[in-house]
Parts: sequence; structure tokens; C-alpha cells
Amino acid sequence: MTLATTVGTVALPAPVMTASGTAGHGTELVAYGALAALGAVVVKSLAAAPWPGNPAPRLHPAAGGGMVNHVGLQGPGVAAWREHDLPGLAASGARVVASLWGRTVDEFAEAAALLAGAPAVVAVEVNVSCPNLEDRSRMFAHSATATAEAVDACAAAGVPRWAKLSPNAGNLCEIAGAALGAGAEALTLVNTLLAAGVDVDGRRAWNGGLSGPPLHAVALRAVRDCRRAFPDAGIVGVGGVASGREALALLMAGADAVQVGTATFADPRAPWKVQGELARWCRRRRVRRLRDVVGAAA
Ligand SMILES: Cc1cc2nc3c(=O)[nH]c(=O)nc-3n(C[C@H](O)[C@H](O)[C@H](O)COP(=O)(O)O)c2cc1C
Repeated sequence: MTLATTVGTVALPAPVMTASGTAGHGTELVAYGALAALGAVVVKSLAAAPWPGNPAPRLHPAAGGGMVNHVGLQGPGVAAWREHDLPGLAASGARVVASLWGRTVDEFAEAAALLAGAPAVVAVEVNVSCPNLEDRSRMFAHSATATAEAVDACAAAGVPRWAKLSPNAGNLCEIAGAALGAGAEALTLVNTLLAAGVDVDGRRAWNGGLSGPPLHAVALRAVRDCRRAFPDAGIVGVGGVASGREALALLMAGADAVQVGTATFADPRAPWKVQGELARWCRRRRVRRLRDVVGAAA
């Protein structure tokens, strides 16, 4: 039985990856499993320059086992990451997907140029869920044109581009089409959903991004819609995966691979656990190739 898969032109020996922002910038999870045994390690989004993120508290529980976070895109910047974090990741044998962000199209291009030639980096994930200063701080991911421009700018990295899209967009397929038209060979579906939390006793509220189990059905819908609209695109499913069954659901909906995010906060071994459960399910049902379940319920 083989778990091998491909996302666009990127061949992966296994289908489970970490989700950006939930496994650090480097080898933070190495104590819990072999990074090389996962499909890939997707690092927290990086900009051309260091960025501080938001002040604590930044993580809040939400109904249904979900989480609302407003960590912000805290990171050391691409150059420092290449110097301090990437060598360890490369030495671990992991395939690395570098997630990039920017506040302008030029900042995306700058981050991508700094990434060019980096060892072990098999793809760049273009995180367009960030405010576009050139469009009154509207999220890139809410505009087909801005998404296409950011994806295009990341060609400078010289590796395949995956566009990580927002489930807030009502016209997701239009935005996905713009990303693919600008050269993305895969879509990562989905980023967090705009949400809020309220501390009733403290009469305080916060805005942030919803992740975890409540997001799973939203991710399934995004994957199904985009698989039907773009049969040849690579698709990575992400949202509420905590066991092999959610991973299988995303694969059957049409994803070529999946990512595990919030579940890793409760159990740092979650990506390996999910992958093990997936493999056992396939063996029990005599599925010889994981590819045979991809799109089985699209
Ligand atoms: C604390 C936290 C930080 C995140 N940071 C990023 C990020 O830097 N870049 C990004 O593209 N997505 C980020 N995400 C979104 C995740 O990668 C993922 O798309 C989302 O959480 C849904 O998956 P999950 O339900 O498995 O967590 C973050 C999510 C969480 C919970």
C-alpha cells in the first residue's frame, strides 16, 4: 500500500502536512515524530522583513472545540529564517513548504526573491489572507485581482506556487481561478474563517480567525467546489483535521493531500497520528494506493 501523492508537480511520499502557523518556523515538532515521514512541513508565514505579530492573549477557545486566534503573522523574515531555521529543517530530511505573505504586491515579490534557491523548499504557499495596504487594507484573498497579483509576484521564488485561500470569499471559485491563471499549480483550502469571541464575565470581545472542528465542513465544501471547477489543479485540504477520518473526508472530497493545524496544539503528535490512522484505514479496506480514494466523493 502506498500513501504517495502529488500536489501539482510536487511528489510527496505521504499526504499529511503540518498547517502553516501551527508547527512553528523550524524543527519545533521534531521531538514528537520524524519530520521526513510527513508529506511536508509547512512553516508559519514569512514576510520579507521580521514582523512582531499581536500581543498576548492570542488564542481563545471557541464553541464546538474550535479556536479563535489573532496571533498575527509573527515571523523572523525570510533571510533570518534561511539562516537560523531552514538548515535544521533541511537536515531533518523534511520537504519544506515556505508560506509567504506581504502587505503589498512588492512585499510578496521581495519575500519570494529572498527565498529563491533555498534548499529543501519544494513549494511556496502564498498566504493571501492578509491586508492589502494598496486596497484600503482589504484582504488580498477577498479580491481575484489582488490574489492573482500576489501569486504572480511569488514566481520569483522559483518553485511551484500553492495559493492558500480564504473561506470568507463568497466567490471562492472565481478567486481560485484567478490564482491558477496567475501560475499557481495548487490551491490550499482553507485558511481560518473571520470570527469573534466574547468573554461574558469580563465583558470583553476579540476578533480573529476560527479554526479546528467547526471549520471542517467549510473546508470540505471549498475542496468539493474547487475540485469540480478545476479537475486538474492540485488541491490541499485543511480545516478541522484531527483524525484519519477527517483527512479521508477531505481526500474523498477531492484533495490530493491534507494539513493538520489546530489539532497539533492539543496533541503535538497529531500529524503523525492522522497519517497512521489514514494508512490503517486503507490497509483494512485493501486500498492499495491512496490516490484511489482521492475524489471518490467529489
Ligand atoms: C494559531 C494559528 C496560527 C496560524 N497562522 C497561519 C499563518 O501564519 N499562515 C497561514 O497561511 N495560516 C495560518 N493559520 C491557519 C492554518 O494554517 C489553517 O489554515 C487553519 O487553522 C485551518 O486548519 P485547522 O482547523 O486544522 O487549524 C493559523 C492557524 C492558527 C490556529
